Amino acid sequence: MTSFTVTGGRPLYGTLRVQGAKNSALPILAAAVLTRDVSEIRNCPRLADTRAAADILRELGCRVWREGGAMYVDSSAPIRCSISPELMGRMRSSVIFLGAILARCGEAVLSAPGGCAIGARPIDMHLEALRSLGAEITEGEDRICCRASRIRGARIRLPFPSVGATENALLAAVLGEGETLLLGAAREPEIRDLQDYLNAAGACVSGAGTDVIRIRGVKRLHGAAHRVIPDRIAAATWLCACAAAGGEIRLRDVCHRHCAPVLDALRRMGCRAETREGEVLLRAPVRPGSPGTVVTGPYPGFPTDAQPLLMAAVLGAEGVTAFRENIFEDRYRHVPELRRLGAEIRTEGRTALVTGTEELRGAVMRAYDLRGCAALVIGALSASGRSRILGGEYLDRGYEAPEECLRRLGAGIERTEDTHE
Ligand code: UD1
Repeated sequence: MTSFTVTGGRPLYGTLRVQGAKNSALPILAAAVLTRDVSEIRNCPRLADTRAAADILRELGCRVWREGGAMYVDSSAPIRCSISPELMGRMRSSVIFLGAILARCGEAVLSAPGGCAIGARPIDMHLEALRSLGAEITEGEDRICCRASRIRGARIRLPFPSVGATENALLAAVLGEGETLLLGAAREPEIRDLQDYLNAAGACVSGAGTDVIRIRGVKRLHGAAHRVIPDRIAAATWLCACAAAGGEIRLRDVCHRHCAPVLDALRRMGCRAETREGEVLLRAPVRPGSPGTVVTGPYPGFPTDAQPLLMAAVLGAEGVTAFRENIFEDRYRHVPELRRLGAEIRTEGRTALVTGTEELRGAVMRAYDLRGCAALVIGALSASGRSRILGGEYLDRGYEAPEECLRRLGAGIERTEDTHE
């Protein structure tokens, strides 16, 4: 068990480089299976989740190694078509391998995916999209078996712009016969990044970033070098930490356009945000105000992953902030923990109301998911005195050396590894 001890009440000052995007790196690592060649994935963040993806690739029969910030995948040897339940259980995104393995092997056998506890995360849309492409799917108690002797291009309409279903359909269709039209696709920047990697590897995909993606099947792909885009949620984390604790920070290697909904909310709180190519400068006011109502939605809406982060940043803000969580039905597990700091938060269904208070005091809290864990750290930074955050290993799923990043900004944060708890 990992825990973090945070000494709150210190404003943050300094410059941070933003890591590569976890949610780009994971589907791109899965896509590397399709190339039967060597891929160089630059700016690939060092995270528990990217290590889990590397372990899956190795289990499948690929060679995977790191050189500095780049991850290399050699998928030229024949690969297995199944992933062990142990590796599937390590993260939800392992389901992204389904489309890639199916396309490469004509068969894929996976057990139920794991991941963060933020509500039911069904994969019905993933399976429906694969069926449209010609896959036969049998679902057992805890196993899913997909078979397709050939993948045939199809017109697929997603009932909701699911990020994972869009990626799985894209990965399955890239080597298919004919053209696939994916309507109602998710528009997240990470999908555009996946398209860019696939096209660098010889695929013929267009439209990612809009809700219509066109995929012309090609016979084969080849190795490619690709640089992963900056992580907009990691950027949002440092920005919310600064808004909560006060101070002024500069983020480098960031795409401010991808952070627009979060920057808008921070500006409504009275933060000064200046942006230029690859950089964001944020100055927090002495006491922020409420950003009003924050509604999560598919990109370009306010990201659900940043909802816990912004909530932690408004605990001390003047006035009432309303959150409506429209993506996941159970994404408020950080709320009872933040209340331990003295935060005034009421929830009802998908809505949470935060009444800002200046009386936040350090507390012991437990994390249940990645972004919830980051929210507890942010809350602790804005509270007086010391806090302890249990379940700190969640942070390592999505952040590269998180405590070092925060210490560089002047935060008081220490990591403890406990062998028993
Ligand atoms: C991805 C991100 C995650 C982010 C989420 C929403 C990665 C690795 N993870 O997760 O960080 O929080 O997008 O922006 O990129 N759904 C179904 N059936 C399906 C698929 C999804 O009902 O077949 C539902 C989910 O339960 C959820 C909603 O659709 O309520 C959105 O999920 P989705 O966009 O698929 O998220 P993920 O790809 O899992």
